Amino acid sequence: MAVKHMLNFQNWSGQELWDLLQLAIQIKAKPKEYRQSLAYLTLGMIFQKTSTRTRVSYEVAMTHLGGHGICLDWRSTNLVLAELKDEVRYLSRNLDGLMVRLLTFEQTQEVAANSRVPVINGCDNKYHPSQALTDFLTILEHKGRLEGLNLVYVGIHNNVANSLVEGGTKLGMKITTVTPEFNEASRDDQLLEEARRTGLFQQTLDLPKAVAEADIVYTDTWVDMEFFLDQKFAKAKEERIKLMMPYQLNEGLLKDSQALIMHDMPIHTGYEIDRFAIEHPHSVIFDQAENRLHAQKALLWQLLT
Ligand code: CP
Repeated sequence: MAVKHMLNFQNWSGQELWDLLQLAIQIKAKPKEYRQSLAYLTLGMIFQKTSTRTRVSYEVAMTHLGGHGICLDWRSTNLVLAELKDEVRYLSRNLDGLMVRLLTFEQTQEVAANSRVPVINGCDNKYHPSQALTDFLTILEHKGRLEGLNLVYVGIHNNVANSLVEGGTKLGMKITTVTPEFNEASRDDQLLEEARRTGLFQQTLDLPKAVAEADIVYTDTWVDMEFFLDQKFAKAKEERIKLMMPYQLNEGLLKDSQALIMHDMPIHTGYEIDRFAIEHPHSVIFDQAENRLHAQKALLWQLLT
């Protein structure tokens, strides 16, 4: 039987995603019942990029489920000097699952093609399904439903936006993007076309109108993590900040809004979002971050057992 991975949501139906969310709710409510459910299983976690939440939440999830997580940093393992496919062929003979944060989706696919065990995408240039799954769980907890809700994503169209569009439309949500700029490395026209065909995905640059019609307003960094502190990207970063400032989530934009405020973190305060929006009573940013743990427990349970 073919191994099931989660590289993006392409091979996951809306019903399968819904079932995962229900499982996450169950595991979150009754954690003791799942304490030994992954006993003696080990998840390898490959990081080619920095991380706080992905690293912590997957490792803690494995501990809570009775298993173990090993962090494999790109620079301190032989991943840095060997061919990725050969390292993965070895790793998947000793490990029970792999969670990978790699620079490109092509690398993520290469891992899956050479792995005997399930592979989870922990964010590459195109997709971040681990994050979007968590976001859907958080919305479900706060709103009691997903179907028909309008999530307005404001910022650069990037990997997170792709996963919100792909997963959200499968779950019956309306996804509206307000994205004056596209991260070309994240471009997946087919994903957007398929989402458009559902009638649930739309794009606009009318930010006040979009926010007025939003149940959820979501933003993310304007500059990808691997470029944020890179001096070579400094000029492009400044230009992007100038272009994007009118699209900041702030007091002026949100003062009359009843929408949930979301951000997948890390936050760059004063850029894509201000302190008013972070601390707003409708902000669920830290619930969202906490839920990485709960959503991923369900995903690990589903794929590794
Ligand atoms: N949102 C997210 O993936 O956080 P980290 O980059 O800290 O893992």
